[in-house]
Amino acid sequence: MKASVTKGLGQGFVVEEVELAAPAGHEVRVEVRASGLCHSDLSVATFIGGEFPVVLGHEVAGVVTEVGPEVTQVKSGDHVVGSLIQYCGACVNCLGGRTHICFHPEATLRAPGQAPRLNWNGAPVVQGMGLGGFAQEALIHENQLAIIPDEMPWAPAALIGCGVLTGAGAVLNSADVQQGETVVIMGAGGVGMNAVSGARIAGAGTIIVTDIEDGKLERAKAFGATHVVNSRTTDPVEAVRGITGHGADHVFDFVGVRPVTAQGMRMLGKGGVLYLIGVGGNDAGVDVSAMVALSGSQKVQGVYMGSSNLKRDIPFYASMYLQGRMNLDDLVSKEIGLADIESGYESLKDGTTARVVITDFS
Ligand SMILES: NC(=O)c1ccc[n+]([C@@H]2O[C@H](COP(=O)([O-])OP(=O)(O)OC[C@H]3O[C@@H](n4cnc5c(N)ncnc54)[C@H](O)[C@@H]3O)[C@@H](O)[C@H]2O)c1
Ligand SMILES: [Zn+2]
Ligand SMILES: [Zn+2]
Repeated sequence: MKASVTKGLGQGFVVEEVELAAPAGHEVRVEVRASGLCHSDLSVATFIGGEFPVVLGHEVAGVVTEVGPEVTQVKSGDHVVGSLIQYCGACVNCLGGRTHICFHPEATLRAPGQAPRLNWNGAPVVQGMGLGGFAQEALIHENQLAIIPDEMPWAPAALIGCGVLTGAGAVLNSADVQQGETVVIMGAGGVGMNAVSGARIAGAGTIIVTDIEDGKLERAKAFGATHVVNSRTTDPVEAVRGITGHGADHVFDFVGVRPVTAQGMRMLGKGGVLYLIGVGGNDAGVDVSAMVALSGSQKVQGVYMGSSNLKRDIPFYASMYLQGRMNLDDLVSKEIGLADIESGYESLKDGTTARVVITDFS
C-alpha cells in the first residue's frame, strides 16, 4: 500500500510503497478514507522529532476491512474514527474513566520483538501514535477506534479524532465550563474553533477569541465567538478585562508561545483557570507568581487530548454534527491527495485555511 513516510527530522513527507502486516490480537485493519493534517504531526516532523522513519497522521476516519482474532468492539464494514489516545482499559486511571492518562498506553501496540505492523524496504517503520493515518490503510488497536454513524461524511469525521476531541474536550471535559461562564480562547486555528463550539454547547455566557489574523477572527465569529480581539493591534489582556469587568473564568491557550501564555495568565479573574494546550515551540510554558495565583485562587492546568474518553466522545461529537449543533464543515478548508501533505501544511499558514484533509489516497 502507499504511505507517506517521514524519514528524519526536517525531511518532509514522501509517498512510498509500505507493507502492512495482517491484523493480530486486538488489531483492526482500516481502509483510510480521510486523514486530517494536524499541526502536532508537523511539529514531530520539524522540531520535536522521535523515532524515524515514521508514518504520521493521527486524524483518521475509514472503514474496517478486517479484524484480528481477539477483536470484539468493531466489525468489518463499520465506519470508524481513530484517536491517538492509547489506553489499556485495565489500569486504575482507565478504570476510573480517565483513559487519556492511562499508565500502559503501550498495551495498544505490538510488543518489542513482535514483527512490526509496518515495513518499508524490508525494515520496520514506526506507526505514529499507533495510527499512521497518512496511508491507504492502517492497522489500529480496537481501543483507539470509535464507531460513527454511516451517514457521517469522511472529512469532518476525521477531524473529530484530534482537533475536536482536543478543542471541544478541553472546554467540556477538562474545564467543565458551566452555563454563563466567561471563556477566552487564544488561537483561532482548527483546534480553537472546536473550543468555540464546545463553549456554545456548554452554554458559556461570553466567548472571547484572540488571534493575530483578522480572517481567522472573522471565522471565529461565525463559529459563535461573542467577542474577538486581534492581539497584534490590541492589548488582549486589557481587552478581556474590559469585556469581562473582572477577568475570565477560563482561558484556553491554543498558541503555546511564552508571551501569549503569560498574557493568558493575566486575563484570569478570581478563581480562574489557565489551560495549556498548544505547544508553539520547545520552550512553551508559563511563569506563575505564587502571590498572584494564591490571592486570586487561580490554577494552571495542562490538558492532554481534551481529557477525552474517545469511545464516549467521538460518537457524541458525530451526533452533534449530524444534528447541526457542531460546525465541522467550515473547518475542512481544503481536500488534498496523499502526495500533497507538504503543500497542505504550507497552505495552513494562510489566514483563511482552518484544516486540510487528505481524501484522495489513489
Ligand atoms: N494538548 C493536546 O493534547 C493537543 C492536541 C492537539 C493539538 N495540540 C496543539 O494545539 C495547538 C493548536 O493547534 P491548531 O491545529 O489549531 O493550530 P493552528 O496553527 O491552526 O492554530 C494556532 C492559531 O494561533 C494563532 N496565533 C499565532 N500566534 C498568535 C499570537 N501571538 N496570539 C494569538 N494567536 C496567535 C495562529 O494565527 C493560529 O490561528 C497546536 O500547538 C497543537 O500542537 C495540542
Ligand atoms: Zn492532532
Ligand atoms: Zn490504562
